[in-house]
Amino acid sequence: EISDAERVFDELVAHEKRIEPRDWMPEAYRKTLIRQISQHAHSEIIGMQPEGNWITRAPSLKRKAILMAKVQDEAGHGLYLYSAAQTLGITRDTMTQQLIDGKAKYSSIFNYPTPTWADMGAIGWLVDGAAIVNQVPLCRASYGPYGRAMVRVCKEESFHQRQGFEILLTLMQGNEEQRAMAQDAVNRWYWPSLAMFGPPDDQSPNSAQSMKWKIKRFTNDELRQRFVGMLVPQAEILGVTLPDPELRFDEETGEYAMGEIDWDEFFEVLRGNGPCNAERLERRRTAHEEGAWVREAAAEYTRKQALRAER
Ligand code: 3HC
Repeated sequence: EISDAERVFDELVAHEKRIEPRDWMPEAYRKTLIRQISQHAHSEIIGMQPEGNWITRAPSLKRKAILMAKVQDEAGHGLYLYSAAQTLGITRDTMTQQLIDGKAKYSSIFNYPTPTWADMGAIGWLVDGAAIVNQVPLCRASYGPYGRAMVRVCKEESFHQRQGFEILLTLMQGNEEQRAMAQDAVNRWYWPSLAMFGPPDDQSPNSAQSMKWKIKRFTNDELRQRFVGMLVPQAEILGVTLPDPELRFDEETGEYAMGEIDWDEFFEVLRGNGPCNAERLERRRTAHEEGAWVREAAAEYTRKQALRAER
């Protein structure tokens, strides 16, 4: 027998209405939203590191300015999403501590190194491209604060994707060495960006329930297919080869047949054993410790303001 409150909740979701912070919601709905939104926020913040590595090394002032703007956007996306998660009753400090203690997940993709400038192009084109495919449906997530946060995030992501494409296009119109650098970056980022969408549908324990609650609108494999369908024509324009010899469009299924993703590697990265996991967490921990004085100063300022207001 379900309660009246749960019946109202089910009705709202069934009629594509938003669930707002003060609405009643099943504890499991709250819990999975805190899980997904906090991980999404952590991904944005950790995602600043691979690209941040190239802000001081950008090949021109123009590229430096664009990259700085992009990395600042990612910080904003993170803060947006932490705020959305806080409406569900978890605090910013708790989420930060979970990340720093290595207890929180963040997107696997950010545990890979960025050895060349072409990585900035491959990340923009592939990682932000994948993020757009994943985040556009999230604009319609049943939880109000999450769906609304995604609208602004998606607008900025399309700029991120375009500037990445343009970096690769410029390199592919360059000399042999530049073309090889672009192809090398695409070879290294292609498969991990497919894995970003999550494990295959038959190994995705959260998907069924998330789709019932209209948090997730499409399955992991559906979005992966959509992403590859987007990449193929763009790769042709770029003149890069997607590093999957088995990739071909299957007229019957209307889908792309593709090679196997290395799920062992994926789950190793999730266990914290990717190429850069330790370095990413160490950087985040140090930044938090070095930022303690700012938080203390802000708290002291607020205390003094409150005292002044009482006089
Ligand atoms: N990296 C790390 N963990 C992942 C993952 C990935 N790429 N894909 C799946 N997982 C985890 C899930 O979190 C889950 O673990 P948990 O239960 O402990 O949370 C487990 O693997 C099983 O996966 P499921 O498919 O069952 O989990 P979900 O239903 O949550 O689907 C998801 C995974 C598609 C990533 C979903 O959580 C989602 O859409 N999240 C929001 C989008 C997001 O986080 N994007 C990350 C990129 S942020 C970004 O791109 C920044 C951009 O500006 C560059």
